[in-house]
Amino acid sequence: MSDSSKLAADYFRRGAEALAKQDLTAAIEAIRKSVKLDPTNLLFLQTLRGCEKRQRELDSTMPKTFRIAVIAGDGIGPEVIREAIRVADAAAPKSDARCEWTHFPWGTDYYFQNGRMAPADYLDTLAGFDAILLGAVGHPSVQDHVTLNGLLLPIRRRFDQCVCLRPAYLYPGVDSPLRNKPGGSIDMLVFRENTEGEYANIGGFLYRGMPEESAIQTSVFTRKGCERIIRAAFEKAATRPRQRVASITKSNAQGYGMVLWDECFARVAAEFPNIATESLLIDRAVMEFVRRPESFDVVVASNLFGDILTDLSAIIVGSMGLAASGNIDPTRRHPSMFEPVHGSAPDITGKGIANPLAAILSVAMMFEHLGLDAAASIHQAVKDLLASTGPKTPDLGGNSTTEQVGNGVASHIAN
Ligand code: NAD
Ligand code: IPM
Ligand code: MN
Repeated sequence: MSDSSKLAADYFRRGAEALAKQDLTAAIEAIRKSVKLDPTNLLFLQTLRGCEKRQRELDSTMPKTFRIAVIAGDGIGPEVIREAIRVADAAAPKSDARCEWTHFPWGTDYYFQNGRMAPADYLDTLAGFDAILLGAVGHPSVQDHVTLNGLLLPIRRRFDQCVCLRPAYLYPGVDSPLRNKPGGSIDMLVFRENTEGEYANIGGFLYRGMPEESAIQTSVFTRKGCERIIRAAFEKAATRPRQRVASITKSNAQGYGMVLWDECFARVAAEFPNIATESLLIDRAVMEFVRRPESFDVVVASNLFGDILTDLSAIIVGSMGLAASGNIDPTRRHPSMFEPVHGSAPDITGKGIANPLAAILSVAMMFEHLGLDAAASIHQAVKDLLASTGPKTPDLGGNSTTEQVGNGVASHIAN
């Protein structure tokens, strides 16, 4: 017997032992090694096939488990995330799935105790999860650049979450602050570049604290970075009925980065001849978002412009409390992160009145990303609740609590 046959037999014996202990995963792992070393051995091959078949049978009857890292964070973050998890747990069984939640107590309270927003290796910790669900980060008594650069922003960059996808849809039953806008008339998807641009965090201080002090903050626009977000926007627009993409620029004043952006837009647009395009300067765009919001379908913008536009798009469809968001790595090499567009809302923290629907709709985006059709039942429940006399928080003119809205959505899904 050759050395490799001996080794193969040894692996097979270990596999058989694992099988006797009903550890199918270990058995498959060991027997696979024996097949690899001795591919002509029919006994090894047939045993492996049998084990794999059994594994598939078990997989199809067992709920699929998704490991989700939860960073509830600051302010209203924990209040809305609690309800988002309630709804996720009600919806997941519809896709024969379950979420295993791992809560990380990172944020500004952690900072007060440890002098940093999260442990030094927090990005490595997050890397192994299927997705990340985040509430909000930011506290009135700590500078925002410390809290955000210490927790949220590095996640977007490290996990190459280049697409920040932010839908804005005017639900029937919700009033826009703009006049005469019927439900469904505003329906746009903002694709915000999420890893570079004005958020590259390159720069420094000179003569800090002295009368001559100066600061340099550099924007970084790369062809790769611009093209991938613009292409993602066009690919999505091609699946939507209106087939339109608007690019947001400022190349009249910013003659390098924004010029590269425009060139990338023109190049990618040429690959999609059936899609209607327009290019708007950011100042004009904010005006048009108010004057003709219904004309926008897919909108693609740089990091900062996308940030600003999505608070505006959130409010024209009724509330910051309805705006969901996904920070997505389209290559799926890293976990994507889902979070409401809004922040920690210190003005309403602890009052129990934060609208949890933005966080709940972010869970629906997370389910879509994970391939769970239970996302549709979350969307339907939110739509039904908003169109009915059901519970609504004060931002939508109601007087219900965060928890009542979360319960309303969860029980609608369960029934
Ligand atoms: P914000 O989004 O927290 O609040 C803006 C306004 O919208 C406030 O009046 C608030 O009460 C209201 N609002 C927000 N979410 C709501 C909800 N779910 N229901 C009802 N009303 C809601 O923006 P801000 O005040 O500019 O920022 C507060 C803090 O949050 C700052 O520290 C900021 O840096 C941080 N921030 C964090 C994130 C994030 O973690 N993703 C996003 C934005 C702002
Ligand atoms: C958002 C937020 C963040 C951003 C802040 C908190 C850094 O405003 O997600 O919209 O600007 O990206
Ligand atoms: Mn923002």
